[in-house]
Amino acid sequence: MRIAELGQAIGQAVEIEGWVVGLRKSGGIRFLALRDGSGRVQAVAREADLPQDVWERTAECGQETSVRVTGTCRADARAPGGVEVDLRGIEIVGVSSDYPIQPKEHGVDFLLDNRHLWLRADRQSAILRVRHVFMHAVREWLDREGFIGADTPILTPSACEGTTTLFETTYFEQKAYLSQSGQLYNEALAMALGKVYCFAPAFRAERSKTRRHLIEFWMVEPEMAFCDLDGCLQTVERLLSSALQEIARRCPDELRLLGRDPSEVQKVQPPFPRISYDEALKILDEEGLGIPWGEDFGAPHEAAISKRFELPVFVHRYPTQAKAFYMKPDPDRPEVVLSADLLAPEGYGEIVGGGQRIDDYDLLLQRLQEHDLPVQDYEWYLDLRRYGSVPHSGFGLGIERTLAWVLRLEHVREAIPFPRMLYRLRP
Ligand code: 4AD
Ligand code: MG
Repeated sequence: MRIAELGQAIGQAVEIEGWVVGLRKSGGIRFLALRDGSGRVQAVAREADLPQDVWERTAECGQETSVRVTGTCRADARAPGGVEVDLRGIEIVGVSSDYPIQPKEHGVDFLLDNRHLWLRADRQSAILRVRHVFMHAVREWLDREGFIGADTPILTPSACEGTTTLFETTYFEQKAYLSQSGQLYNEALAMALGKVYCFAPAFRAERSKTRRHLIEFWMVEPEMAFCDLDGCLQTVERLLSSALQEIARRCPDELRLLGRDPSEVQKVQPPFPRISYDEALKILDEEGLGIPWGEDFGAPHEAAISKRFELPVFVHRYPTQAKAFYMKPDPDRPEVVLSADLLAPEGYGEIVGGGQRIDDYDLLLQRLQEHDLPVQDYEWYLDLRRYGSVPHSGFGLGIERTLAWVLRLEHVREAIPFPRMLYRLRP
């Protein structure tokens, strides 16, 4: 029986398969803390009640020994989960001694070197449970709204998000790159299916060593035909809010363990505030962080802007020069694009980027040339503007950045099982 289900087995004989988190001895009683991935429970062994061999075996359980424990489940109001198990038998499945991660403070480099073991810690497995629920809830919402999950390639011949962060690889005799974003392919799929999304890893060879940058991260990217910037932003806020409500409902214990009150997560409801890039510059001026018009924000700027809001805030209409080649200029003000970034509260920075795409053939061709991109590689993408072009929009939501905010993580590296960072490819 899984530990999470023990509450339904009060008074019954149970068998638990799991790992020993710790062993505490107190005279003729031994307390074994057990975990099995679903939860934690304490098994209590009493010398007076047990055959000698069983009693002796309970002392052989070093941290992370894997065991099969049998016993009787008993309600205990003081215990986490409300139950304890009176141990009757124990089988050692796999021994463990000198486990490297001790119940004390370790440096983060040591923990990252031992990421394959660190994952077993309460905090880390709680993060991964929330990650799972979040990703599942995102897919469920998109499915309910009529989006088709369509997968985009990881090996690509050309850039989506600028040529400076491309991961180069070889594709037999040709050069290829790992995908930075499925967006361009998503646009083709949206012309076929109307509303689509891809949910995949993205790769950015960014020489940034910040608490918000991963080299490999996961992104969900919805793309919608016949949709403008406003429709796009409404989709962002409804999707994010709905997935967060699901986390609050299904993971209240994990949230509390990580220092986030579930009610704070529930409060993230649309509409999110919207400000223009120009309004954001005014805030930055007031905060003594002014930048010249046209420049993109860095982490301190995003933190200063988001500090003014309780909810995530959309910053829209960025300067055309600061943004990707495919973004549609505002017809009323071509020096800005119909794009928006969603900035998370509490200084966690940009978690979503998106907007309306150029739907005009001539303008798209001009932009490709201005950005020095090899037009022949984008002929297929130009076809989407040759054959029945429509206004369309979409966005990318970064899973780890969003989780880092919701779970109050110090660094995005904890929001993915095996982080890939500037100086870390192992384990
Ligand atoms: O703003 P970005 O670069 O947008 C795109 O890739 C678009 N093509 C998406 C689209 O419109 N379909 O990335 C989107 C999001 C960011 O807001 C951030 O959450 C996340 O992806 N992200 C990263 N997360 C972790 N580490 C990095 N290095 C990231 N770069 C982007
Ligand atoms: Mg962005």
